[in-house]
Amino acid sequence: MKKFEEQKFNIQTLKGISAKNIEEHLKLYSGYVKNANSILDMLVKYNTEDMTGNSYVIGELHRRFSFEYNGIRNHEMFFSSLEGGAKPLSSGSAFKKAMEAEAGSFDNFLAAFKNMAVTTRGIGWAVLWYDQKEKQFIVSWVDEQHLGQLNGATPILMLDMWEHSYVADYKPSGKKQYVEDFFANLNWQVIEENFKRARV
Ligand SMILES: [Fe+2]
Repeated sequence: MKKFEEQKFNIQTLKGISAKNIEEHLKLYSGYVKNANSILDMLVKYNTEDMTGNSYVIGELHRRFSFEYNGIRNHEMFFSSLEGGAKPLSSGSAFKKAMEAEAGSFDNFLAAFKNMAVTTRGIGWAVLWYDQKEKQFIVSWVDEQHLGQLNGATPILMLDMWEHSYVADYKPSGKKQYVEDFFANLNWQVIEENFKRARV
């Protein structure tokens, strides 16, 4: 099985979110890559050495793999959406039109998404998905990295709501401002591209 490789991100100066915070956060992303690869190595080792004798450990490694794997992919989507500087969604955007048709207005969607991000308790992710089967958007929360991932739906926008994302800059009580600043920093063109790929 191929090993996972770290992606590099070109993130410029952000509003509210410090370069130091991004630097530290990228180290956590590296940890997910390292741990996912480590699980793959350990599975080979334990299966080769004594598959039956190691069955409990092997089972637990399989169980935890989705935590590490989704930790990689969630962060790649999060950091990618902050690359290239803040860029608005164009008025002719297919994503914007589709969202307006479904949510009534783009502002309706954005207000509901921000509210979910700020008010949902616990560590995890605020996510906008596109469900190709039903051809509709879904807004939902993912606990940790992996609990609540929607099978078959494609994430379009992922906002990291673990405290490591914002406490260094905002304090725990500053979650609402962090969410506001994330959207002020967001490159909506990346989200538009994510939607185009998800819709195919
Ligand atoms: Fe994170």
